[in-house]
Amino acid sequence: MSRETTYNFAAGPSALPQEVLEQAARELVDYHGTGMSVMEMSHRSAVYQEIFNAVKADMKRALHVPDTHEVLFLQGGASLQFSMIPLNLMGEWGNADYAVTGNFAKIAAKEAGKYGRVNIAADTSDCNHTRIPEQSELVLQPDAKYFYYCSNNTIYGTEWHYVPETKGVTLVSDMSSDILTQPLDVSRFGVIFAGAQKNLAPAGLTVVIVRKDLAGNELPSTPLMLSYERMIEKDSMYNTPPCYNIYMLGLMLKWVEKNGGVEGMDALKRERSAILYDYLDESRLFRGCAERDARSFMNVTFTTGDKDLDADFCKAATAAGFLNVKGHRLVGGCRASIYNAQPIPAVKALAEFMKDYEVKHHV
Ligand SMILES: Cc1ncc(COP(=O)(O)O)c(C=O)c1O
Repeated sequence: MSRETTYNFAAGPSALPQEVLEQAARELVDYHGTGMSVMEMSHRSAVYQEIFNAVKADMKRALHVPDTHEVLFLQGGASLQFSMIPLNLMGEWGNADYAVTGNFAKIAAKEAGKYGRVNIAADTSDCNHTRIPEQSELVLQPDAKYFYYCSNNTIYGTEWHYVPETKGVTLVSDMSSDILTQPLDVSRFGVIFAGAQKNLAPAGLTVVIVRKDLAGNELPSTPLMLSYERMIEKDSMYNTPPCYNIYMLGLMLKWVEKNGGVEGMDALKRERSAILYDYLDESRLFRGCAERDARSFMNVTFTTGDKDLDADFCKAATAAGFLNVKGHRLVGGCRASIYNAQPIPAVKALAEFMKDYEVKHHV
């Protein structure tokens, strides 16, 4: 197996653009004649500070982040935000609304319950999270400290195609698997966060965009490292940040810019996902798992309806070089993750492979 003969459909960590990897490789040992790798630099050095500042500025530009908001580069994965958010936003036994549309939102809601009262504003577990609630279904508390939702459910292959209206209640969103894939009005959000390992960079970095006026209200017992206020004050450098991953994010942001920015990513994701969904809609063997209007542009979940046949398909796909198409263990079936870096030819090749498989196996 080699990179040339395979396609990687992993849900995260996932494929990065070839040219980004090649640039990283070129710069790996001696970054711009500094005599050292970015991996070897002090985070306080002038040269690293320059990299850091440029990446932050590029991130702000890519999403038009207003000056009311701060961009933080943190560690601990998206999962640490499940704790950091209530610690910083809930106040003493405050309450918050959570829309549970998948496993990560469920974990986040449970974690928040340690710090305050959680109202489940919506829960789609009755249909195994194959749909997204409509605005009218959301049970919102006017005095909630925030409303939390996960904009793309990586495991189930569903995505919110609207930003919930919360009538002034602070919006918080886990955008781990669809950040930087579409234009976004950041000013509507209190906190946006994303583990980097899908659309942004290698694993180990979490990008958090936080409205500055929300900082400074954390619970007194909040660990130092989990204080938005402290991280804003120290520009993400209270301690050593994930230096190399931030540099990789910088390369990825340049690639996104070169390919049309978030508008370009938005057009590409539609083209990419339509190749698979159009085929699924006409297939007599496979069907998509998510309800049509909730389908994710990023994670296409599908099944034959037969566990053994799904397993056989995944095995055959892997042997043919289509890697990581097995569905998440919570749902089974198959899943193709097609983030920003996934080339259109890879998606077309997978659709062709599925068609051939159907011809061979349909009875
Ligand atoms: C939507 C979403 N949120 C949170 C997480 C957890 O991320 P991490 O492993 O960075 O904690 C994931 C991981 O796949 C995810 O897809």
